[in-house]
Amino acid sequence: MKKVDLIIDNCKELLTLKGANRARTGSEMNDLGIITNAAIAVSDGKIIDYGKESEILAKYDFNEHIDADNNIVMPGFVDPHTHPVFYSTRENEFEMRITGKNYVEISQSGGGIRCSINSVRQAGEEELFQLAQQRIKKLIPCGTTTIEAKSGYGLSTESELKMLRVIKRLNESLPLDIVPTFMGAHEFPVEFKDDHEGYIKLLIDEMLPYVAQAELAEYFDIFTEEHVYNIDESRRLMQAARANGFKLRMHADEIKPIGGAELAAEMKAVSADHLGACSDAGIKAMQKQGVIATLLPGTIFSLGMKSYARARDMIDAGVAVALATDYNPGSCNCDSMQFIITLACLQMKMTVAEAITAATINAAAALERADIIGSLEIGKQADIIILDMPSYKFLPYHFGSNNVTRVIKKGKTIWSDLSSRIIFH
Ligand code: NIG
Ligand code: FE
Repeated sequence: MKKVDLIIDNCKELLTLKGANRARTGSEMNDLGIITNAAIAVSDGKIIDYGKESEILAKYDFNEHIDADNNIVMPGFVDPHTHPVFYSTRENEFEMRITGKNYVEISQSGGGIRCSINSVRQAGEEELFQLAQQRIKKLIPCGTTTIEAKSGYGLSTESELKMLRVIKRLNESLPLDIVPTFMGAHEFPVEFKDDHEGYIKLLIDEMLPYVAQAELAEYFDIFTEEHVYNIDESRRLMQAARANGFKLRMHADEIKPIGGAELAAEMKAVSADHLGACSDAGIKAMQKQGVIATLLPGTIFSLGMKSYARARDMIDAGVAVALATDYNPGSCNCDSMQFIITLACLQMKMTVAEAITAATINAAAALERADIIGSLEIGKQADIIILDMPSYKFLPYHFGSNNVTRVIKKGKTIWSDLSSRIIFH
């Protein structure tokens, strides 16, 4: 009998998400590849085999054994859009929104992203690192095993590099994987508020080449919106980013339909995110070009808006939809992909299976990592979570507390809380 490092057995439902190593579209998003009464074998941090428990236990001996206790086992969540490096929190803006101010008004009156920029510029690198480390640690019990993390609260060469160095250290020191994105075009910093061309020139001539040379980011991201970067400015910056070797992602059509999704398709961005106001033409263009629509319903919820992205129209048109928290200090201070799945189902009418696909394999594809994470298949990273639930359909239904009881990253348990488990009948 072959010996493996780890066997997880007694899985009532194993959601393998098996299929092609790419984003799933249309009816594929409803197929979770479920095996009942299953087990999974892991060695060297990778999945060796999986199947019916009786078959796996007959084939393998093991060093470590985890009894899933007749619970639900699935890939760890991938969160492909976060802004986790910041100094101060902005709960005052949450209350301003409740009392009638909107996101754009708050940002134009000195709050919003610019407020985070002031404090990040002043903060020491070590202090920023410690704060972000504590904050990101809270994502792990929620079942997240990989995140994307953006800079974008520095908006000067020096402060953006400081943020990106922090992200690199976070990736090295935390057990989850962190994919770095340079977001020097998150806003216009206050010293350039009346000189947009001046800041665009700084980005093109200095920041993009410096960040590229430092090899601190894989992607370039931009906030394309009426009150920030318009379509022409965004196109120029994305072209410059591409020329410096960055791959592209976008904050597109969040509030107004200004053609952000169309530009994402034109520029062959990997992902267009938000899309609350995306037009029919934008949906068509993303489908044609294979741009992944990363939807952030937590942001719409936290901003108290009603304009959830048209996930149904997107899925029905063949666009690959992913989900993310948008974790940040302003518009969405949410740790939990589980809550995002609840919102996706309730507010965007995604089926439970579609939302789970969007939070795993499609989110991995939005980070171009569908070949290593996002599903439980032989050879892939053993990023696995166990959830205290009677069926996968329980996930969005039971919200407001944590369904996850164990988080396994590359075959090692990095978090568990077995004390609060309920026995389901
Ligand atoms: O994705 N939309 C722009 N950026 C962030 C907000 C960041 C902030 O408010 O600090 C977002 O929602
Ligand atoms: Fe964002």
